[in-house]
Amino acid sequence: MEMIKIPHTDLEVSRLAMGCMGLGGGFDADTVLTSEHDQQARAFLDAADEVGVNFFDHANIYGRGRSEEVFGRVLRERPSLRDRIIIQSKCGIRWENDPHGTPQRFDFSRDHILESVDAILARLGTDRLEILLLHRPDCLWEGEEIADAFQKLHSSGKVRYFGVSNQNRFQMEYLQSFLSAPLVANQVEMNLLHHGFVEVGISFNQSSPRYPDGWEGTMEYCRMNGVLLQAWSPLAQGVFGGTFDGQPENIRKAGALVRENAERHRTTTEAILLAWLLKHPAKIQPVLGTSRPDRLRACTKAVSVSLSREEWYSLFAAARGAPMP
Ligand SMILES: NC(=O)c1ccc[n+]([C@@H]2O[C@H](COP(=O)([O-])OP(=O)(O)OC[C@H]3O[C@@H](n4cnc5c(N)ncnc54)[C@H](OP(=O)(O)O)[C@@H]3O)[C@@H](O)[C@H]2O)c1
Repeated sequence: MEMIKIPHTDLEVSRLAMGCMGLGGGFDADTVLTSEHDQQARAFLDAADEVGVNFFDHANIYGRGRSEEVFGRVLRERPSLRDRIIIQSKCGIRWENDPHGTPQRFDFSRDHILESVDAILARLGTDRLEILLLHRPDCLWEGEEIADAFQKLHSSGKVRYFGVSNQNRFQMEYLQSFLSAPLVANQVEMNLLHHGFVEVGISFNQSSPRYPDGWEGTMEYCRMNGVLLQAWSPLAQGVFGGTFDGQPENIRKAGALVRENAERHRTTTEAILLAWLLKHPAKIQPVLGTSRPDRLRACTKAVSVSLSREEWYSLFAAARGAPMP
């Protein structure tokens, strides 16, 4: 596995990260953890170890806390594992009825950030997170409060580094202006279909931009400031694994091209989708969502695939459903 050093940190992390959203039985409020969930988490960690992935992405909402809880159970069984892995989690999204009678909302208040981290650490059974991300922008955020929460978490040793998710360049600049340490990551949806991060660069000066998507300047900001871009849903949630029946023409064409590339490179379709992201010079870190060891192995082949510029653009053109402007 290729390893990368996250700028502004001492963290050496695998180029591919494992997303833990699939652990703990999904988002249903009534699910209760069983030994099957424990077994799934063990297999998940075994598979990561086998392929050399050392980076695990959590959020306090995944499985309504159960993803962290079941991961923590396996960590307690394997205490030597903790120092070999990097754990990232997120907070800031609150469910409806948390507490009873409240609406679904975002919350970057000082108290919520501090309470969330304590709960995350308790579920994981660990004393620290390597990285904490703010999950989705809170319309009512106050930079001073966030900075105060980050300072308390850092000085108590509970969180080593901080980052964001689903934020644009202006939001990052705003937040950064209150912080003494650099934001180290921004986790955003990026995949062959959800390609605003590259479409934005060719939309300028077009009479009808195809996919503006709010990305303006975000890629450049992250590259100039050494912010690691992490891609959520890097496999477009499995769309390219299906039959394409009833799918729009761009997905059918892009899907056929993904398969053609997989044959030519003697690799898997998952590897081609990820290699398309890895080709970008920003050194994007895909966060894989599979919970199947065989698919994880199929994904890790991506690090040894090098798409040519021509292959990269052909895939992009097929996915956007139009040639370059
Ligand atoms: N920051 C955010 O707002 C945010 C939002 C969403 C997710 N995330 C993070 O990103 C991670 C990945 O997200 P994701 O799960 O949406 O990513 P993904 O890797 O694009 O999608 C994974 C899903 O697609 C299925 N899949 C992939 N390839 C397939 C194929 N060829 N055939 C059939 N099914 C296929 C997987 O099924 P199998 O399990 O069967 O392989 C799994 O259900 C999450 O775990 C989480 O850590 C972050």
